[in-house]
Amino acid sequence: MEKGYLITGTDTDVGKTWATIALMHHFKSQGKSVVGMKPVASGCFMHEGQLKNEDALLIQENASVKLDYDLINPYAYELPVSPHLAGIKNPVILNEVALRFEALKELADIVLVEGAGGWCTPLNEREDISDLAKSLALPVIMVVAIRLGCINHAKLTYQAIKRSGVKCAGWIAMCTDPDLLSRDENIQTIKTALDASLLGVLPYMEVADFSFLSEQLSMPTGQ
Ligand SMILES: Nc1ncnc2c1ncn2[C@@H]1O[C@H](COP(=O)(O)OP(=O)(O)OP(=O)(O)O)[C@@H](O)[C@H]1O
Ligand SMILES: [Mg+2]
Repeated sequence: MEKGYLITGTDTDVGKTWATIALMHHFKSQGKSVVGMKPVASGCFMHEGQLKNEDALLIQENASVKLDYDLINPYAYELPVSPHLAGIKNPVILNEVALRFEALKELADIVLVEGAGGWCTPLNEREDISDLAKSLALPVIMVVAIRLGCINHAKLTYQAIKRSGVKCAGWIAMCTDPDLLSRDENIQTIKTALDASLLGVLPYMEVADFSFLSEQLSMPTGQ
């Protein structure tokens, strides 16, 4: 059983947060305690004197344990731009993230870490999300938004994950477009193209019901 996962995706806005919260519900329904992180967030607002991010707040709210915001989101950037630009004055230091991750590991059975953007999103001048996954020694779960262009994005991202030498625990099909033609055929094509487990097809929902979404997930035994 893995101690945690890094949730990445084929792009920004593909359903990483929805997948992370659904996974939190999934592990909780198995009787495990779960916490999460969104260590680097661009696009934050001032709340009670501190910059905060919607994704990180949702992760905080769904954790089994009450956690300080700083533990979940040490890098909260105001501007909604790539972290290496948003954080030019306060760049991401992966060791700082790792220290908080180690603390979280002590507090729960599973730690889910949501990435930022996609697999190659730069976090600072030298490092990107692949370096974050390596630094935390976490297997990744790849979220694919099932929309036009998703086959190309899924194959490219999966190839890049493999090239990084990071283990891929599987992928999640997130149905973000209710009007997409040939949805099932798209999912089947990606399934055939990747030698990774499909952990679930999460349907389109006008309003998220994370308990229902979590019931669509299944993690292969041993993961
Ligand atoms: N299953 C779904 N059904 C309907 N809409 C969805 C679904 N999953 C995601 N969405 C929509 O897509 C938006 C983006 O999802 P989400 O915030 O999870 O993406 P993300 O990859 O975490 O984005 P970011 O890169 O900003 O962190 C959501 O606000 C929601 O509107
Ligand atoms: Mg998100």
